[in-house]
Amino acid sequence: MPKGKPILRGSMLSGRLALVTGANRGIGIAVARALAREGCNLIITGRDERSLIKARAELEKLQPKKLNLHVLAQSCDVRSPDSVDYLFALVRGLRKPLDILINNAGIAHPPRTVAELPYPTWMEVVDTNLNGLFLMTQAALAVMKRGSTIVNNLSIAAERVFPGSAAYNASKHGALGFTNTLREELRPKGIRVIALMPGATDTAIWNTMWPKAPRRKMMSAETVARTVVDALLLPEKTTVEKVVMMPSGGAL
Ligand SMILES: NC(=O)c1ccc[n+]([C@@H]2O[C@H](COP(=O)([O-])OP(=O)(O)OC[C@H]3O[C@@H](n4cnc5c(N)ncnc54)[C@H](OP(=O)(O)O)[C@@H]3O)[C@@H](O)[C@H]2O)c1
Repeated sequence: MPKGKPILRGSMLSGRLALVTGANRGIGIAVARALAREGCNLIITGRDERSLIKARAELEKLQPKKLNLHVLAQSCDVRSPDSVDYLFALVRGLRKPLDILINNAGIAHPPRTVAELPYPTWMEVVDTNLNGLFLMTQAALAVMKRGSTIVNNLSIAAERVFPGSAAYNASKHGALGFTNTLREELRPKGIRVIALMPGATDTAIWNTMWPKAPRRKMMSAETVARTVVDALLLPEKTTVEKVVMMPSGGAL
C-alpha cells in the first residue's frame, strides 16, 4: 500500500475513539497511523510536545476526509497521577466513550546486572511500565463501555527474561499479571483485554538497551501495528488474549 493513503473499506473501527500512549514515535505512532487509516478519532499522548504536534499533523492527513474525524494531541506523563487526571478531564470533555485504549508508553534501561543496577533506574522503569499502566487503565475504565478494547503493549520480556534487563523484565512480568487480572475483571463487562507481546522491533528503544543491536533482523513497528488492528477488527464476541510476535529469525 502506498505510504499515507487511507484505506476506505467501511471499517468497523471508523468513527471509534482510540487513545494511544507513547504515540509520538516507534510502535505507538505506527499503531496510531494504522488506526487513523481505519477512520478512528484519536487521542495521542507522550511527554514530548513538539513530536506530538508533528504526529498530530501527520495523522490528520491519514484520516479519511469524509468522516470528519479529529486528533487530540496532549502531553501526558503516565507516571504522574496529576498528568493522567488532566488528560482524562479532556477525554471526558469530548463526551464520547473511549472505545480503544492502547497502553504503549514504555522505557528500557542500559544493560546492568542486578548487582550494578542503580535504584533510580529501577524506579523509573517500574514507574513507567507498571505504575503508569495502572494509572492510565484505572482512569480509562471510567469512560469505557461494553464493546471496547484495551491493548497493553508488553513484550516477550513479560514471560521470558533477558539478563542485564532486570527492571524491564520485572516491570513487564508485573504488567502481564496486571493485564491477566484486568481481563478477568472486565470479561463480565464485555471489555476485551489483549496482551501484546512483541519481540525485537526496530525502534528508538534499542538506543538505550543495545545500540548496536542488528536492526535488520527486527520486526517493523508497522507490522506490530497491523497485528493490533487485526485483533481490534475481530468480531466483538471474539478476542485474542495474548499476541506473541517474533522476528522469524528468532530472538536476537
Ligand atoms: N521495540 C521493541 O523491540 C519492543 C518490543 C516489545 C515491546 N516493546 C514495548 O513497546 C512500547 C513502545 O516502545 P517503542 O519500542 O516504540 O520505543 P520508543 O520508540 O522509545 O517509544 C516509547 C514511547 O513511550 C513514550 N514514553 C516513555 N516514557 C513515557 C512516560 N513517562 N509517559 C508517557 N509516555 C512515555 C515515549 O514518548 P516520550 O519520550 O515523549 O514520553 C515514546 O512515545 C514500550 O512499552 C516497549 O516496552 C518494544
